[in-house]
Amino acid sequence: MGEKSKKGGWCGWIIVLIVAAAAAGAIVVLVMKKHKDSSSDAASGASEKKYGDALKIAMQFFDVQKSGKLVNNKIPWRGDSAIKDGSQEKLDLSQGMYDAGDHMKFNFPMAYTATVLSWAILEYGDQMKGVGQLEPAQDSLKWITDYLINCHPKDNVLYIQVGDANADHKCWDRPEDITEARPLIQINASTPGTEVAAETAAAMAAASLVFKSKNSGYSSNLLKHAKQLFTFADRYRGTYSENIPEVATYYNSTGYGDELLWAASWLYHATGDQTYFDYATGKNADSFGNFGNPTWFSWDNKLAGTQVLLSRVSFFNSKVSNSDTLQEYRKTAEAVMCGLLPKSPTATSSRTDSGLIWITQWNALQHPVASAFLAVVYSDYMLTSKTGKMTCDGNEYTPSDLRKFAMSQANYVLGDNPAKMSYLVGYGDKYPQYVHHRGASIPTDADTNCKEGWKYLDSTEPNPNVATGALVGGPFLNETYIDSRNNSIQGEPTTYNSAVIVGLLSGLVSTSSVVQSFT
Ligand SMILES: *[C@@H]1O[C@H](CO)[C@@H](O)[C@H](O)[C@H]1NC(C)=O
Ligand SMILES: *[C@@H]1O[C@H](CO)[C@@H](O)[C@H](O)[C@H]1NC(C)=O
Ligand SMILES: *[C@@H]1O[C@H](CO)[C@@H](O)[C@H](O)[C@H]1NC(C)=O
Ligand SMILES: *[C@@H]1O[C@H](CO)[C@@H](O)[C@H](O)[C@H]1NC(C)=O
Repeated sequence: MGEKSKKGGWCGWIIVLIVAAAAAGAIVVLVMKKHKDSSSDAASGASEKKYGDALKIAMQFFDVQKSGKLVNNKIPWRGDSAIKDGSQEKLDLSQGMYDAGDHMKFNFPMAYTATVLSWAILEYGDQMKGVGQLEPAQDSLKWITDYLINCHPKDNVLYIQVGDANADHKCWDRPEDITEARPLIQINASTPGTEVAAETAAAMAAASLVFKSKNSGYSSNLLKHAKQLFTFADRYRGTYSENIPEVATYYNSTGYGDELLWAASWLYHATGDQTYFDYATGKNADSFGNFGNPTWFSWDNKLAGTQVLLSRVSFFNSKVSNSDTLQEYRKTAEAVMCGLLPKSPTATSSRTDSGLIWITQWNALQHPVASAFLAVVYSDYMLTSKTGKMTCDGNEYTPSDLRKFAMSQANYVLGDNPAKMSYLVGYGDKYPQYVHHRGASIPTDADTNCKEGWKYLDSTEPNPNVATGALVGGPFLNETYIDSRNNSIQGEPTTYNSAVIVGLLSGLVSTSSVVQSFT
């Protein structure tokens, strides 16, 4: 049973669709204006403000996670760190972001962070701008892409990790005081790693669009690296966590086919070059597309993201939308949406009693938040293209149904849950005080080497520094949360969590969602 007859908040909107032809394909610009007297959504002002406030907080975690010599640092307890990363290979790998509560730079999830943050800026940059968050988002993105560029010194060489996880995890120290060795890991033609090369290509292609008008030289440089890396990823195929087994402990990959399709899709958007479209819809799609089967969007699996991203082409670019394979992508994107909508006949049963999508105990919030981000994007594609309905096993659903689902997940994260707590640190009255995060847990004036900081992990005092904006792992299936610093399963935030929550919140900031063209 759908909710199609319910009067949603969209009734009072005028949609003006302007479609203009351009060299690389159709440009679609959507302008929506709200009736001044809109009465259907009286509460919307307050709820939009809530999402804007939360977005401003969420964005700050990228600043918390920055490595290197900080510029305009806004986090009082952070300072310069890891300045010499990369120096043993005469590279400057000082920038980029720490992965979580530790000091590792794992490029596979870091590149995913950059791809998703780019996507959020491309879809919702105007909403970010409306609450003063566009420049912080672009700055944080560039902090990662500057690093990724330096990680790619030769066509077929990409550094994919700084730090040794075993050595790093034996210390409890502030990033400013790192004493442990910072070894590097690279992939190359003899030891390839298709996932991480392709994800880095996707990140750079997406970021090249973000910086296209603002910094065209930088944008072209990103695109050049993206193309080279895609070629490297495709020509030298191999699973990175098989070729470099030590990475499997933290970011094991279940396959590289999804990253190849995802990277080709981003390169198509960034270049308009048909070759990339053909790649994503040709025999590689037959091999890796897994059409008809909904999957969870994550740092490991990009299929659902690719399906939504290529649906954009199907919705907006009439020249190519007849491709059968493109329709398969869109149908599978719809299957993903049908799984998320709680009343759909094909709704997933993987939820908590109060409706949070719940897939894994470790970092549970990554899946609901990433899914809700895709749902709000898909909802806006439908609205922009005046697609009123989609069907799940014969039942009809509207863009507003998808948006409601996305809001339900965001609201849960922000405190509308049985534990009555916000899982976004710094938001609301009650949020985790014992976040598993070294920098947040150690006073700035403490003199710890590698080992002497462990007493701060064990301390019963709340963290002396607030990891503002951290999205922690979140609740158990039974919706309880143990606020303990040693509870990394629930209490450790990740940088890629920030990318998906920033994407979701920026999609909800304003109901005047303007899905701008990428080109
Ligand atoms: C290629 O990468 C592997 C894995 O990181 C490394 O062991 C090897 O030394 C690299 N090859 C060259 C020529 O540097
Ligand atoms: C990594 O993933 C592969 C493929 O799913 C699996 O066979 C392997 O056991 C995993 N390794 C670890 C360490 O989890
Ligand atoms: C923290 O967790 C680790 C791993 O589960 C365990 O070895 C350690 O004893 C715990 N420390 C405290 C203080 O609970
Ligand atoms: C909730 O689930 C966790 C993890 O499975 C378990 O440790 C805890 O005891 C449960 N709490 C309650 C109140 O059932």
